[in-house]
Amino acid sequence: ARIFNPKSGKTMMLAVDHGYFQGPTTGLKKPRETIMPLLPYADCLFVTRGILRNCISPSANTPVFLRVSGGPSVLGELSNEDITTSMKEALRLNAVGVGLSIFVGEKNEDRTISNLGRLVNEAEEYGMPVLAITAVGKEMARDARYLGLASRIAAEIGAHMVKTYYCEEDFEKVVEGCPVPIVIAGGKKIPERDALQMAFNAISKGAAGVDMGRNIFQSENPVAMIQAIKAVVHENYTVDEAFELFNKLKEKKVVSERV
Ligand code: 5RP
Repeated sequence: ARIFNPKSGKTMMLAVDHGYFQGPTTGLKKPRETIMPLLPYADCLFVTRGILRNCISPSANTPVFLRVSGGPSVLGELSNEDITTSMKEALRLNAVGVGLSIFVGEKNEDRTISNLGRLVNEAEEYGMPVLAITAVGKEMARDARYLGLASRIAAEIGAHMVKTYYCEEDFEKVVEGCPVPIVIAGGKKIPERDALQMAFNAISKGAAGVDMGRNIFQSENPVAMIQAIKAVVHENYTVDEAFELFNKLKEKKVVSERV
């Protein structure tokens, strides 16, 4: 209930964990400045412990899903991940859940899937939900067949939620084949209207929400964008309505609309 809005049954998660392998990525060079104004509109923040400890005000009461995997940087073999943050730490930081990446079809797929199994084993002892992220390597096609395979494996190993990418064709089959809620990552920055369309399509085809990062914090107006995405996720806004809301908020015609 702390992750999913009880009215809509969906979640608007804000992903700001990118620095764990990308360093000071565009839009997150000053994490505190970027993240704090967005928090009132997020149901949940997906973040590493380093940014949580150093850049998020202790008075913020947005629930936190903690990124607990890492290892390689963007310069190395990305699938070479392990668990980097303990369950004890997640509990101490009052996280409502923990998340890690699996790399299906990549060099270290077996290790990352085993990481998921170990994390779920430990998390079950504390009733801590686990989000598995289906990271997609450069060589992999982001199609329903691949995303469905990776999402189903994550659920079978015990993930309570799966974050994957949206695909235009047969996304509903990815959702159908996965017995736990699916949220979508936004991927690379695309024009705002296109990102709203993607969120709308994903929700229409059965996604339980979004866990988006770059298409929010790299937007020309991140605070307007998160509210527009949130309107799609929770308020059944059409793409046109949400884009209009974005433009109004951007132009400050609406000073502080909470959707
Ligand atoms: C990186 C992640 C990110 O949280 C995920 O990709 C979501 O962010 P974006 O919407 O920018 O894709 O898991 O591995």
